[in-house]
Amino acid sequence: MAEPAKPLKGLLVRPMSHEDIATCQEVGSQAWSDLASRELGRKVKYPVRPRRIIEAYLWKEPEGCLVAEHEGRVVGVAYSHVWGKVGWFGPFEVLPEMQDKGIGTALLVGCERFLERRGCKVLGLETMSNNPKNLHFYMRGGYRILGSSLIMEKELRSGAGASSCEPSNPEEVIASIGDISALSRKGHPLLDYSRETEMAARHDLGAVLLARKGSRLRGVAVVHSYYAPNESDHASLRLVLVDPRAKDQEDCFNGLRKGCESWSFGRGRKRLFVRFPGENLELYRSFLSSGYNLAAANLRLVRGIPFSERGRYHLAAWAG
Ligand SMILES: CC(C)(COP(=O)(O)OP(=O)(O)OC[C@H]1O[C@@H](n2cnc3c(N)ncnc32)[C@H](O)[C@@H]1OP(=O)(O)O)[C@@H](O)C(=O)NCCC(=O)NCCS
Repeated sequence: MAEPAKPLKGLLVRPMSHEDIATCQEVGSQAWSDLASRELGRKVKYPVRPRRIIEAYLWKEPEGCLVAEHEGRVVGVAYSHVWGKVGWFGPFEVLPEMQDKGIGTALLVGCERFLERRGCKVLGLETMSNNPKNLHFYMRGGYRILGSSLIMEKELRSGAGASSCEPSNPEEVIASIGDISALSRKGHPLLDYSRETEMAARHDLGAVLLARKGSRLRGVAVVHSYYAPNESDHASLRLVLVDPRAKDQEDCFNGLRKGCESWSFGRGRKRLFVRFPGENLELYRSFLSSGYNLAAANLRLVRGIPFSERGRYHLAAWAG
């Protein structure tokens, strides 16, 4: 566990409430605008994270969304996510003028305690590879670099190609929760993506695609596009999992990918982003041949028992 730094006098870490949301949006915007402005050497204003995604995180993990309060003011925010026995946190944000006072560490300890209470055996996160502060922050808390997380981007044009996969409605997704859990465990015995998928469906964060053969669930994909079109022109492929025992994995994966591209394009999105482990060369080649370009690479860090996503067609974004 991260060592609690000399605690700032009067600092309180507590679960977020719905009344905190507006302040948390502002903390996030300030933290990311400051980081981007320093990196780019010019003033940058980050878009405010939409209320809808914060409400969704609160629905998913009410005790795992934490705020740090100092003298009655929210000065930091962190969101935890439980995927079976694998837990991760992000976004993670402290007001610029309150950084380097141990507030991030106090939030990190809060997230770790929550995830461990929930039985997570692997704790992880993604961060930018070019940020020494963040790397120090997590590595001194016992996190080791698992590998890179590649971020690829595709410009969406009309011809996404025919796909057999259509988005499912929320009722279908909720009725498939047991199947999504079982499919997750086929991907890795520690994983369960069912609540993540249910959150996307219930909170209208984008689209959920379920690939079935008869009654058998062979694959799932979740694409997010919750920013208003005037604030962001892109969608993000958050999760794809194809049954590693299925014979037609490639077809299933391509059907899900094309379905997500068509859906995103139909919603006026101009670009689709994906993130996946850099060690998966097959996935890299597959995206490359489907019109994606490499945009950036982050680092994925973990603590706990050995873990990495298994399966040729398995990707999940550890970034909020
Ligand atoms: C990352 C973040 C949450 C950390 O919060 P914080 O309150 O500043 O964290 P703490 O004060 O608890 O710890 C900061 C540590 O980084 C160290 N640090 C500060 N600047 C550093 C630098 N340039 N290089 C290396 N280490 C640095 C501090 O010395 C401290 O380490 P120490 O306790 O071992 O001395 C905060 O910087 C932030 O909001 N950043 C912008 C958004 C972001 O990057 N979020 C994380 C995405 S994964």
